Amino acid sequence: MSTDSFPDGFLWGTATAAYQVEGAAHEDGRAESIWDRFSHTPGKVKNGDTGDVACDHYHLYKQDVAMMKQLGVGGYRFSVSWPRVFPQGVGFANARGMAFYDRLVDELLGAGIRPFVTLYHWDLPTALHDRGGWANRDIAGWFSDYAAAMTKALGDRVKDWITLNEPWCTAFLSYEFGEHAPGLRNPALAVQVAHHTLLAHGMGMQAIRAAGNMQTRVGIALNAGYNLPLADSEADRVAAENAVDPLYEWFVPTIFNGYYTERLFDDSKYRSPDIRPGDMAVIAARNDFLGVNYYTPTRYTVVDGQVRSVRNPNGEYTEMDWEVDPEGLYRLLLKLCAQTKNQLPLYITENGAAYPDIPAADGAIHDADRVSFLKRHFDAARRAIREGVDLRGYFVWSLMDNFEWAHGYTKNFGIVKTDYITQRRVFKDSALYFRNVCAANAVV
Ligand code: FCB
Repeated sequence: MSTDSFPDGFLWGTATAAYQVEGAAHEDGRAESIWDRFSHTPGKVKNGDTGDVACDHYHLYKQDVAMMKQLGVGGYRFSVSWPRVFPQGVGFANARGMAFYDRLVDELLGAGIRPFVTLYHWDLPTALHDRGGWANRDIAGWFSDYAAAMTKALGDRVKDWITLNEPWCTAFLSYEFGEHAPGLRNPALAVQVAHHTLLAHGMGMQAIRAAGNMQTRVGIALNAGYNLPLADSEADRVAAENAVDPLYEWFVPTIFNGYYTERLFDDSKYRSPDIRPGDMAVIAARNDFLGVNYYTPTRYTVVDGQVRSVRNPNGEYTEMDWEVDPEGLYRLLLKLCAQTKNQLPLYITENGAAYPDIPAADGAIHDADRVSFLKRHFDAARRAIREGVDLRGYFVWSLMDNFEWAHGYTKNFGIVKTDYITQRRVFKDSALYFRNVCAANAVV
């Protein structure tokens, strides 16, 4: 293995999520999700954009799989739209919706691409939201039933399951900060929702294992951030080390150690959720792997004796105004490895960047910034592996430009450009670069 290469069998992939790419919002019996309702509410999403059509992946999945094959990826992480397969969230399964995922999985396997299926990437059926949604404890059971049904339908071919994507977003971004569907601002409810997401994960894992086979593996994808000091000073270092990183602390110690750290509730904003006997054991059940979604670190400094998270004036930033810091990824991987005693395989389930992508005269996208971003993050991952981290794969976010939640279509994360009018896909330079990385299994 040369110094730039990854271990044999390392899985390179691309990632998407149902509401961001599928479109076909009203087809074949699909019902409404909280994101349909939210995006159709004036003022919630930039330019009033919705996922009604998005990348029309529902119809164009064959060509999208062919495109992935051309890129030479070994894995595709996609999510199932819950209201497409269970329009009421529970009960009646919509065969036509199920059939789409059946076709997609077969197409992927035919192309030699391993499916990683996320069951919940934020598009809750509104039928369930109207019954209390994530704030209702029953959701853990609703989710497990859905997870079991999907495993029964696809588990003969799909080995890798991700219960939830970024529960921090489901709980806090959606219920405290109001930026994501359903757009509420209620910290107490957010904490309860966080607990229910964890419970749904734990019960969901049980359901998937019960419905699966010997090869079934299940995990979760967390947006685990990383704290860094703003300045190279003792005070800032201590501030960063001691600051509660909400992305990390609500979910990592809970899932791996079975408790909420007390300091989460030091802040008078949050009180402990309603935890029933047995919950923490369910939540802390063994995971087969952990998915890490990494984009950016959080910088801390001390101002007038107070610890603050701040923008780095000397930092490099993407179009999302997220600081570029591959070192944060390297340190995060080492930290997770230490915290899980290196007993848990890790996957980077998302990493990538939005840039303006101004087309050249011939229409090509020479996204040198994204190429450089990816190269430096791949290198951080490679260094972490050299340090002994059991990192098994890396999914780039995203396969193609898509509906970026509250930003609508204004932020491009794709390594492939999507023309939303013609639905033409065009490889950006970063796609060509990624193809070389996949072929060499090395940072090139
Ligand atoms: C993550 C989401 C993903 C995408 C990227 C940019 O938080 O999981 O769907 O929007 O951010």
